[in-house]
Amino acid sequence: MKKILVTGGCGYIGSHTIVDLLEHGFEVVSVDDFSNSYPSVIDRIEQITGKRIENFTSNLTDLTTTKKIFEKHPDIAGIIHFAAFKAVGESVNQPLEYYQNNLSSLINLLQLSVEFGVKNFVFSSSCTVYGNPDSIPVTESFPMKEAASPYGATKQMGERIIQDLVQTGKIQATLLRYFNPVGAHPSILLGELPIGKPLNLVPVITQTAVGILPEMQVFGNDYPTRDGSCIRDFIHVCDIARAHTLALEQLMEQRNKVPCEIFNLGTGLGITVLEAIQAFEKVSNVQLPYRIAPRRAGDVVAIYANNEKAKNELGWKIQNDIDAMMDTAWKWQQSLPKKS
Ligand code: WQD
Repeated sequence: MKKILVTGGCGYIGSHTIVDLLEHGFEVVSVDDFSNSYPSVIDRIEQITGKRIENFTSNLTDLTTTKKIFEKHPDIAGIIHFAAFKAVGESVNQPLEYYQNNLSSLINLLQLSVEFGVKNFVFSSSCTVYGNPDSIPVTESFPMKEAASPYGATKQMGERIIQDLVQTGKIQATLLRYFNPVGAHPSILLGELPIGKPLNLVPVITQTAVGILPEMQVFGNDYPTRDGSCIRDFIHVCDIARAHTLALEQLMEQRNKVPCEIFNLGTGLGITVLEAIQAFEKVSNVQLPYRIAPRRAGDVVAIYANNEKAKNELGWKIQNDIDAMMDTAWKWQQSLPKKS
């Protein structure tokens, strides 16, 4: 059985990916310091899969403690690297913490991959690397634009660091550019657990619907779009998870066409913020109290994916539409304690 190290394994996308890996015959070791996740996620993964994974609480910015993972598990065959700070607004206020954490943890992992002969590296990247694209939908060949935040810059730099190492031939890698991951596992045992007040749209919607937040704001309805609100490509977290397993298998079976592949992970459908709210109201039968507020700094007007490459080369099949995204997100929110 192939052993995979998943960093940030107790996080939102990491935990859903671990479930998919376990369900497809992989053995998984996790590293997560619980700075933005909860130990109970390990129990939830066990409830879903019947398997209990080992988690290291090492801080990946510390090379010595991180090396201990590889010494204990010298048979790691691949790494999926999720662990990173990821709050766009926070990164603007704390750039050094973001560069320090996100880049030194990546560099440590890559250094240890080379040292221990781990050849397959999957990196959690983001559509944020495209900035405000000149046209939509975006394909993987679109150029990176000026990052709107230090968070986005760490993703762009992370991709470049990986590509520079790949060209030495010491590892091969796949960069997965997520659009907007939303929703929860159909068991409603895993989902998004924002710590503190949520910033992303769907957790704000569900916390407003359940009454934790009194009302929500729509940041701008004066954009040049069909209804004036921003356009995004919402993608179910389980579909994102599935793509990680497929990408890893492609690397491990040497089916990748180039040493460093890049894939967009989006549905290819652009949905406006107001349409997302309407979709939620239809699914939940809850009228959302929202008001139109000024535009949010750093927001991209419109972006959605051309996802043909992932569908054709990974055999990726998207299983969840916007209704399933909103339905699972809503059921998950209702399963949580009603405290903010
Ligand atoms: C989506 C739209 C907001 C909240 C970010 C990162 C991206 C990825 C996903 C990690 C925007 C609007 C939001 C609210 C609103 N993160 N909105 N009211 O900014 O597209 O992407 O999160 O991988 O890398 O950049 O996501 O959910 O914050 O915003 O009107 O209360 O919803 O203005 O148009 P975003 P988001």
